Amino acid sequence: MDIIRSIADFKYKWKQWKQNDVTVGFVPTMGYLHQGHTSLMERARQECDIVVISIFVNPLQFGPNEDFEQYPRDEQRDVTIAREAGVDVVFIPDVKEMYGSGMKTNIAVSDITSVMCGANRPGHFDGVATVVNKLFHIVRPDKAYFGMKDAQQVAVVTQMVLDLSMDVEIVPCDIIREEDGLAMSSRNKYLKPEERKQALILSDSLMKVHKWIEEGVTVAQLKQLITAHVDVVPLSEIQYVALYTYPGLKELPAKQKVMDIQETIIVALAVMFGTTRLIDNVVIYGGEHRV
Ligand code: PAJ
Repeated sequence: MDIIRSIADFKYKWKQWKQNDVTVGFVPTMGYLHQGHTSLMERARQECDIVVISIFVNPLQFGPNEDFEQYPRDEQRDVTIAREAGVDVVFIPDVKEMYGSGMKTNIAVSDITSVMCGANRPGHFDGVATVVNKLFHIVRPDKAYFGMKDAQQVAVVTQMVLDLSMDVEIVPCDIIREEDGLAMSSRNKYLKPEERKQALILSDSLMKVHKWIEEGVTVAQLKQLITAHVDVVPLSEIQYVALYTYPGLKELPAKQKVMDIQETIIVALAVMFGTTRLIDNVVIYGGEHRV
């Protein structure tokens, strides 16, 4: 496995590969790898000749009061995990390599970024779209793998690729969870023991969603039920409970029965535990939720 830190070196490598007409699969990450990340690498390993991951904690996608400085980093451990997952190249640029020339270009995807995490983290998805765009220009993958843990990110990146006619297939991958249901995240490390216990309320409330839909609740009622369920645990502070079409993230009529909705929908939530922000979601594919 190669570790490449410069953009020029990566591009040189890519030209060598492409003399042999191979396919390149790419998993962009911010490191501190866990099984959520390795599931994407394994999928890429199955589907592509060459597997590339990037590890780059991207300052552009963190707000001024967010955790860019504290974000967990452990390069040695990450490199070992990547090697075990059968990765061919780990691309690890530093901030100077990525943005040293002074970034004056910003990629902004409109509309679908104005709700959910986009509404709560101004500028976040511009930062994501900009770095993913730049990484795609460097890595030039045939396929890129993203986790549905960050479902809005999948929607944003897919929209960008469509709008800009980029030659990369975006592959959404299932959410990987801890045994007790908590969605894996590099940020789970921040949780204090009592917060970690109470954090189960996110997946727990989403697991009840199908039952509530079958009972005939409306859009507004479903959001209220989830909110009330999460509010029971004292350390939780809800940022949003959302229900939209997916991936278009369009509003749904508050009084509509969820079981009558024909389109694919997403039920998503973001909850603070102390200073740690956790997200989770369930996507219900068109028709699946109708009884
Ligand atoms: P990061 O949070 O490191 O996540 C990298 C990829 O792993 C993302 O596609 C994310 O959705 C996926 N992932 C994280 N936890 C997962 C889980 N429990 N199950 C399945 N997939 C999971 O997302 C980012 O980094 C950044 O925004 C990035 C795309 C790298 C741009 O900077």
